[in-house]
Amino acid sequence: MNTANMKTVIFKNNIEDIRKAADIIKRGGLVAFPTETVYGLGANALNPGAVAGIFAAKGRPADNPLIVHIADPGQCEQLTTHISQTASLLMDRFWPGPLTLILPAGPYIPSITTGDLDTIGIRIPSHPTALKLLRLSGTPIAAPSANTSGRPSPTTASHVQKDLEGKIDAIIDGGPVEIGVESTVLDVTGDIPIILRPGHITASQIEQYCGRVLIGYEDSTLEDTEKVRSPGMKYTHYSPGTPVVLIEGSPDFVINNSRDLIKKEHDLKHRAGLLICNENLKQISADETYSLGDRTKPARVAQNLFMGLRYLDMQQIDLIIVDGSFVNRGIGTAVFNRVRKAAQRIIKEV
Ligand code: TXA
Ligand code: MG
Repeated sequence: MNTANMKTVIFKNNIEDIRKAADIIKRGGLVAFPTETVYGLGANALNPGAVAGIFAAKGRPADNPLIVHIADPGQCEQLTTHISQTASLLMDRFWPGPLTLILPAGPYIPSITTGDLDTIGIRIPSHPTALKLLRLSGTPIAAPSANTSGRPSPTTASHVQKDLEGKIDAIIDGGPVEIGVESTVLDVTGDIPIILRPGHITASQIEQYCGRVLIGYEDSTLEDTEKVRSPGMKYTHYSPGTPVVLIEGSPDFVINNSRDLIKKEHDLKHRAGLLICNENLKQISADETYSLGDRTKPARVAQNLFMGLRYLDMQQIDLIIVDGSFVNRGIGTAVFNRVRKAAQRIIKEV
């Protein structure tokens, strides 16, 4: 499908415009829309031609499956062959919300949607605009994050515009998103649920409802990491064009290493940008700075991560240094997961 050079309409976040967006989905088109996590790029999940448009617009590898969004748990029946008791409990507790459940795929799902796997990722988003779009479209909507493949996920409509203008039919501008990193992906096809991607819903929250949970994503703080099973996790991710160095450790470690790196860049007549926690702001000066918020407030750090990476990427700088002194707790774990993938280099305190 050739999606280049189409006119991308910017819709307002009102019911008339959401209805127009739903009509585009029904006709097999592509609409970016806000969810509580990040903006998604949606198409009718049951229309293979429409889903092919998502892969073309994003430049996404064909073996990376899409998350299917629904408005109502009853829609799972057409998408999966079996809902275990655990899956059902988790749906009751966490839907609508930022939890994607991996379930056995039903026979009528186009293989392009699932990246040819026999499983399918499903979630009900809680964002009112996403829910209205889903209801008015009357179909499950496949929606990866609405960025060019490999780039930081979009947390505003203008991020989507920057990556996908001219390649998709429309964007619904619902303002900045609430959470800022993508949903937790949980495989519930086996006996013990496996977290394939950390997010706002944490392992301990899930464990309250289903006992033990395994960690299935790469985490440099864990020794006994399961093999990475989420196909998307093997690709370059969340990276701006400018190289990223992550410095993980205590505030002093971060400050000293940042000063060294900035000095090296200046010696080369390069400019350096800092994505930095508030507490360290006054201790280091760089050529460009963006605040991650307080290091003890991971929800704020999550909101600022992709925003800051994209902001710094637009400045004329040669290196982005990320302050990894924020807490690795709650959604902080998801932020570390994303920023480690975005980084070309990690300097870690031992
Ligand atoms: O918050 C989110 O999840 C956002 C919003 C738009 O809902 N969507 C999102 O989609 O982040 P995407 O495509 O950027 O990330 C989906 C992740 C990928 O890592 C993909 O490999 C994994 O979920 N995934 C999807 N279906 C899967 C499946 N059947 N088995 C294993 N992993 C799957
Ligand atoms: Mg993505």
